[in-house]
Amino acid sequence: MKKRYLVTAALPYANGPLHIGHLAGAYLPADIYVRYLRLMGRDVVFVCGSDEHGAAITVKARKEGTTPQAIVDQYHTVLKDTFEKIGIGFDIYHRTSAPIHHQTSQDFFRKLLDKGAFLEETTEQYFDEIAGQFLADRYIVGTCPVCANPEAYGDQCEKCGSALSPTDLINPKSMLSGSVPVKRPTKHWFLRLDQHEAWLREWINTGVADGKKLHNPADWKNHVLGQCNSWLDQGLQPRAMTRDLDWGVDVPQEIPGSEGKKLYVWLDAPIGYISATKQWALDNGKDWEPYWKSDDTALVHFIGKDNIVFHCLIFPAILKAHGDFILPCNVPANQFLNLEGRKLSTSKNWAVWVHEYCADFPGQEDVLRYNMIKKMPEQSDSEFTWKGFQETNNNELVNNLANFVNRVLVLSHKYYAGIVPAIDHDQDFKSGWETDKTGSYDQELSLLYGKLREMGTEIERFNFREALRVVMEISSAGNALLQFNEPWKTVKDEPEMVKVVLNLALQYVAVLSVAIRPFLPFSADRLRKMLNLGLLRDKGDLLAILNELVEGNPIMLPNHALGQSEHLFSRISDEVIEAQIAKLGASEPASAPAAEPTEIQYAPMKETIQFDDFAKMDIRTGKILTAEKMEKSKKLLKLSVDLGFETRTILSGIAEHFSPEEVVGKQVVVLANLAPRPMMGVESQGMILMAENEQGALSFVSPADGWPSGFGVR
Ligand code: 2FM
Ligand code: ZN
Repeated sequence: MKKRYLVTAALPYANGPLHIGHLAGAYLPADIYVRYLRLMGRDVVFVCGSDEHGAAITVKARKEGTTPQAIVDQYHTVLKDTFEKIGIGFDIYHRTSAPIHHQTSQDFFRKLLDKGAFLEETTEQYFDEIAGQFLADRYIVGTCPVCANPEAYGDQCEKCGSALSPTDLINPKSMLSGSVPVKRPTKHWFLRLDQHEAWLREWINTGVADGKKLHNPADWKNHVLGQCNSWLDQGLQPRAMTRDLDWGVDVPQEIPGSEGKKLYVWLDAPIGYISATKQWALDNGKDWEPYWKSDDTALVHFIGKDNIVFHCLIFPAILKAHGDFILPCNVPANQFLNLEGRKLSTSKNWAVWVHEYCADFPGQEDVLRYNMIKKMPEQSDSEFTWKGFQETNNNELVNNLANFVNRVLVLSHKYYAGIVPAIDHDQDFKSGWETDKTGSYDQELSLLYGKLREMGTEIERFNFREALRVVMEISSAGNALLQFNEPWKTVKDEPEMVKVVLNLALQYVAVLSVAIRPFLPFSADRLRKMLNLGLLRDKGDLLAILNELVEGNPIMLPNHALGQSEHLFSRISDEVIEAQIAKLGASEPASAPAAEPTEIQYAPMKETIQFDDFAKMDIRTGKILTAEKMEKSKKLLKLSVDLGFETRTILSGIAEHFSPEEVVGKQVVVLANLAPRPMMGVESQGMILMAENEQGALSFVSPADGWPSGFGVR
């Protein structure tokens, strides 16, 4: 066991609110792990913060016609507030715009430069001549060379997770103007990842670095190892650690050639974990260095699968090149969570936003947490549905957990005026763990001890779904204890036996009040109040009850006065669920309701044409790159449309049916040889083909997903 733990959760980009995919991917598993470690009395620091640099921010600012600073200020507050509301208990939620972070990142850069970790090189990089800017990372899109996703970014393909360079993209396009970029020379500092390949391969696959065994690869998830190895197998190349941008951490100004250069966001963001720890230490009168530099610290990064290569290869290479830092002992990345059969999508509003959930379900934060844990994509992608959410709440949280707690408290108040009964240990009763088995008080306590240990083992192995299942077994066994012994029937004839059963049931509830804490922190607090046990300090409380149970001692002592019972969870109705389902994708055109069979008026057929007439039309596949409303026109959207070989400006009369945001990225079919037409001072260079129904609703005519632009339609 390590002496201390430094736990990090991926710094979210401050360019949007938090959705359930983020929660299930990185933040909830990290929070459960940390809460458990605290309950076990371990020394742990849990850091996170907003990632405020990189193209994710500047692209958003540009889209909204505002400044990057305004965007990060807005979303930093939203994110911080949402994490608090849903009970993610960071020790610090920092931000990468903080001066201490800029300073720390620049010091890192200087150190790497001094140590010869960089290659300084002038290379040809993509440049947007219209926007007058070099295009790195998310400023450039194209087809992924690995999985053929046509919307891969210049730094990464979000579909297959591959880390990319802009020059890897097939058919690259600028995100700024939609134009095809040209190459221009520019000088940058490249991290010699090629020189790190050998030790990274050994460290990932054996856990050994510099001759020291640092971790056991069998403890790492298979999909994490798999992604690292597939990257290593392709051979590591030097990777640029600087950018030509005006937003980010400056390359230290004393370095020749630093003008106009910023640090690459994936260099500064993970250093954000270190600067956050420094700030936490300053705020709390602690020393940050042992957490990052001492071999007896366990450094654990919680992330989603799209961040694996950055945390398992690039950041470790940076830490190693620096020389003073430890390496992560595990990176338990999760896979993706889908929603109602589709990928989560911010642009299509296909998401459950955590701040909206908290507003719609006040006091039920733990219901979302419980569902997220049950559906956590630990080994493979998983799916959240609102119906599943309702069933889980009603069947597991209400019928099992809340029902058990309520029955025990109500009966204790009824029979013993809310005082824990003293008992005669020799009474026979039926165990809740096995049908028709006589229980013994000591054995039941030892079974509870065993379950708590099992829960802990699963948490330490990052098996949070399984750990929660173990906790719920305690509640199920408690319900069975009541069911098998039926105290409501036997209290008159066997009062001493009933005292044992209820005393024991109260021990179960007391154990649950601690066991649920990592998963359902708000409910744990409520339960502690009901039991009049005092709130958990999150400092060794679990260790304390394990020590009592292993000695055969009860947790709730006879004569302890209980608090008032209240309902821990309540049923969620069909109407509430239907309202949430209706909210999904609300910004998308609502699908037409099934119509009653009525007489349909079809437009009369036009006169017959010859094949040659049709063949004159040059119809091509395309994709809408940008869209904006035309001033003074209610009907027209001004679109830039990629035709593969060129980008066209097309005015389309769809503004009353679609917002500009909705149509960007749509694959379309274009009549490409229609004579250009000036409209409201702009030349429209083609026509987008649309289908129209009887009510006048419009639908795009689209080729299959991922179909390339510029090809003929016949
Ligand atoms: O993918 C993302 O959302 C990144 N902002 C994660 C950064 S994690 C760390 F390196 F800071
Ligand atoms: Zn890909």
